Amino acid sequence: MRPQTQADPQGPISLESLPMAQDRTLPYAMLRDAGPVVRLKNGGFVVTSREAADYVLRNPEIFSSERAFATLGSPVPLLPIASDPPGHTRYRRILQPFFTPRTAALLERSSHGQVNGLIDRIAGRDSCEVVAELARPFPAQVFLTLFGLPPEDLDRLLGWKDAIVGSADLSGSAAPPPEVMESAAQLFAYTTAHVAACRAGTGGGLLADVLAATRDDPLTDTEALGLCFLFIIAGIDSVTSALSLMFAKLAADPALQARIVADPSVIPQVVEEMLRIDPANCTLPRVATTDVELHGHLIPAGSSVGVALGAANRDPAELDDPDAFDVGRKYNHLTFGGGPHRCVGIHLARMEFTMVLREWHRRIPSYGLAPGFQPLVGWPAGVIGLSEVPLVFPARR
Ligand code: HEM
Repeated sequence: MRPQTQADPQGPISLESLPMAQDRTLPYAMLRDAGPVVRLKNGGFVVTSREAADYVLRNPEIFSSERAFATLGSPVPLLPIASDPPGHTRYRRILQPFFTPRTAALLERSSHGQVNGLIDRIAGRDSCEVVAELARPFPAQVFLTLFGLPPEDLDRLLGWKDAIVGSADLSGSAAPPPEVMESAAQLFAYTTAHVAACRAGTGGGLLADVLAATRDDPLTDTEALGLCFLFIIAGIDSVTSALSLMFAKLAADPALQARIVADPSVIPQVVEEMLRIDPANCTLPRVATTDVELHGHLIPAGSSVGVALGAANRDPAELDDPDAFDVGRKYNHLTFGGGPHRCVGIHLARMEFTMVLREWHRRIPSYGLAPGFQPLVGWPAGVIGLSEVPLVFPARR
């Protein structure tokens, strides 16, 4: 790519110091103002424009995902994200048939029952904490159904997942604390038992189907475990975080609630615009495999390069009034990533969001944030979200 702007108009910045907690409009504008490629104080780089983001995500031979995710301290490589083509291409070929819109539609029926089971416990009351009571358990229930695992495993699965995700050190520099190692070991033992059951023909669900479909080119136990681990981390936590951000936004916007209640068919558009404007995965990590010049910066081989999805999703070169929340907007945002690693769970995630918002508004049409509550996301973090969103609403009998 040819240099287009003068590198570093403002000198290196640190992502940690961005004012992300309350609202992401200012920090994403600060990132974009710093240029399409920004040098960080820790020696890494971050790309902020849509064009540069696409370039990084679509050139895995220059910007490796395998090297970026190898440092996460998981007991097995998280597949397929911790792999680059050509190995990655094989994993996607195996997984893709199991993640079609049709598969998501097949899970709709069980998801409908699960969401309503959770809302049943809330609807007769006048307040709830929607993260603990809905956004956290629901995607885990979907995961258990998808993997053919018993619903009663929910609490221990969530406990292990929370310990591991909560301690994720994206720099890979610090050893995880003993209790996290213990959770990782227990989750490892749990998934190992599931892999063994699927191989023995006594386990069902997605993994059993994947193993059956790959008899001619079998996955090793390490590969099967790596898939399970990634699905637990990527498939549960991203949905919980995104739902926490969505509920906080909706609770502060009675007009948007009324619009959804009046016309639920608008929900998929509302979901897409929320995903665009406030992605939970705000930066995707990569590592440069070679010296590369991008927008006037020489990025040395081995540098970490983050793709700032939130900034790229609001690129003024791509969108009119990019900071405005506009339900009528049609834009192919980057919140599910791009290039070969684009989220494999995209149809499932969309089904989950649509289901939650449709059933919630059908049963609890009007609600607000609990008085005095300020939705502040934790920062710095690999995935941003709200640990709690207390809501109040008129009790309905
Ligand atoms: C809010 C919902 C979700 C969001 C925003 C999201 C976002 C993403 C993003 C940005 C990536 C690319 C990461 C990168 O390139 O570094 C990704 C990959 C992935 N996602 Fe999701 N995801 C969501 C839900 C799900 C669900 C429900 C599942 C599975 C059930 C899932 C499974 C995966 C997997 C397996 C990958 C790795 C794909 C690969 O490496 O080829 N995700 N996701």
